[in-house]
Amino acid sequence: LKFEPFALERWLAKPRYDCDINLSTSVIKQFRYNELLSEIPEIPIRIGPTNGYESLREVVSTLYSTVDKNEILITHGAAEANFLLLNYLVDPGDECILLVPNYMQFFGILRGIGAKVNLTYLDSTEGYKPNIEEIKLLTSKKTKVIILTNPNNPTGAKLTEDELKAICDIAEENDAYVIGDEVLSGLEFEGRKSPSVVDIYEKGVSTRSVSKLGLSGLRVGWIAAHDKNIIKGCWAIKDYTSLGSSSITQYIAEIALNRVDIIIKRDQEILRNNVKILMEWVENNKNLISCTSPKAGSTALIQFKFNIDSVEFCRKLIKEQKVVVSPGDYFGAPRSFRILFGTDENILREGLERIGIFLKKLKK
Ligand SMILES: Cc1ncc(COP(=O)(O)O)c(C=O)c1O
Repeated sequence: LKFEPFALERWLAKPRYDCDINLSTSVIKQFRYNELLSEIPEIPIRIGPTNGYESLREVVSTLYSTVDKNEILITHGAAEANFLLLNYLVDPGDECILLVPNYMQFFGILRGIGAKVNLTYLDSTEGYKPNIEEIKLLTSKKTKVIILTNPNNPTGAKLTEDELKAICDIAEENDAYVIGDEVLSGLEFEGRKSPSVVDIYEKGVSTRSVSKLGLSGLRVGWIAAHDKNIIKGCWAIKDYTSLGSSSITQYIAEIALNRVDIIIKRDQEILRNNVKILMEWVENNKNLISCTSPKAGSTALIQFKFNIDSVEFCRKLIKEQKVVVSPGDYFGAPRSFRILFGTDENILREGLERIGIFLKKLKK
């Protein structure tokens, strides 16, 4: 396999010594070790079972309504979950459908495998609704998998239950899988929580992790699938990637997931407060930018009304205002940028003020 650079991750990996404000990531305020643990646990520092500790798989399974612990594989973050899954399910030449904007890890892996990737765009003028008719037209018996991220990174939009079901029905008619990257699940701060694809479709597979809850350093994620061959097959590939996750981080993840409601409540409060600040700023600059108000997660996608490439836009912003955001092109969304709003309120306010100055200057 040969992989093209993952443009977003290369952008995020650049040291930003020249910047004062970093709104380029999707990292909500991180938890500290002592907020979760009062003392250092006396456990051996080892890998443990390479499919994940049974007690962790058990608590993960409670996040779904139809999944049991044997239908879970613990992975090194959702990043490894997605990698294993696509490598297990997709062969060179297979057709796949990817809903965009999206976290383009999927796109890069599929290209590396040599699959044919058909993109279908979520409609930004309609709150990022999927084009069900187009998905129907693109799907055939040759389609191996339809891939979506829900709630969506970068837009923070959510698919409705009916939309999800419609996509799963199309997949079922063609005997295709549906992969739902659900790392932002639980971070819905407006409206109802979307169901998981694994709970509504027999060939639906969910990938998720604790990262977006403010625990990204644990590197604990998972695959949830009813098809035991998927769990077994991905586990076998994992022998070549990470082997297994650390006993320490699995232990902490289990503690966190046992109080996931409290963690989510903290995160949702930050998001609910900060999205108001973001959307007020968008309204005040509506002659220059637009944005569909996010309903979940810590990021939003801002469309700008300038004829300039999104990477160039972001580079100029860094140079002139020392603020870093992420180019929309890296998510399959030209003329836009992704901004983190789920961060410290003062940092957000300062960042928005500086971006506002930049936009006004660009208009001149
Ligand atoms: C949609 C999506 N999926 C997967 C990942 C990878 O997450 P993890 O930290 O769990 O590996 C990210 C990280 O930003 C993401 O945004």
